[in-house]
Amino acid sequence: MSIKIGVLTVSDRAFNGVYEDASGKAIEEVLRKYISSEWNLNYQIVADEQIEIEKTLINMSNQKCCLIFTTGGTGPAKRDVTVEATESICQKILPGFGELMRKVSLESVPTAILSRQTAGILNESLIVNLPGKPAAIEECMQAVFPAIPYCIDLIDGPFLEVNESEIKIFRPKSK
Ligand code: MTE
Repeated sequence: MSIKIGVLTVSDRAFNGVYEDASGKAIEEVLRKYISSEWNLNYQIVADEQIEIEKTLINMSNQKCCLIFTTGGTGPAKRDVTVEATESICQKILPGFGELMRKVSLESVPTAILSRQTAGILNESLIVNLPGKPAAIEECMQAVFPAIPYCIDLIDGPFLEVNESEIKIFRPKSK
């Protein structure tokens, strides 16, 4: 099975070309470093519009992305709706992802409590929200990635192999 991974940048300004999407690029870089299996990227960028975010996530999931990272739109501002979009389309929410990412982020920045980032399962896709700050990307991915390949096993996705020199993962046992 070919492995597909989605990266969805949610940002009015990046969408309108006001600035480069550094966070989306940072996610791709970390994924290339961590994952040794062959995989293909499905990269999209949308404005902070809940309906657009939901449609794009559903589309990525229908295209068999086993893992989808979003970046941006997790904060308290009026247009921050990535978490609402994620929660409204997922069948299951995995609150531990947000809890752990906030915990590690709080060690470097007090405003980490402003991120409502979460994760959830939509059919055979794991969706994980990351904040929109480029500095947050690897910090958060490094914290949660060890549990991601096993989570994908549990939702009948492809078997992800990683570069153990870059990231140590944990698979309790094969199903
Ligand atoms: N987490 C980490 N690791 N590093 C950061 O710089 N910024 C915080 C928080 N989480 C930050 C972080 C800030 S300032 C905000 S407002 C929230 O994430 C939400 O950001 P977002 O709306 O871009 O997703």
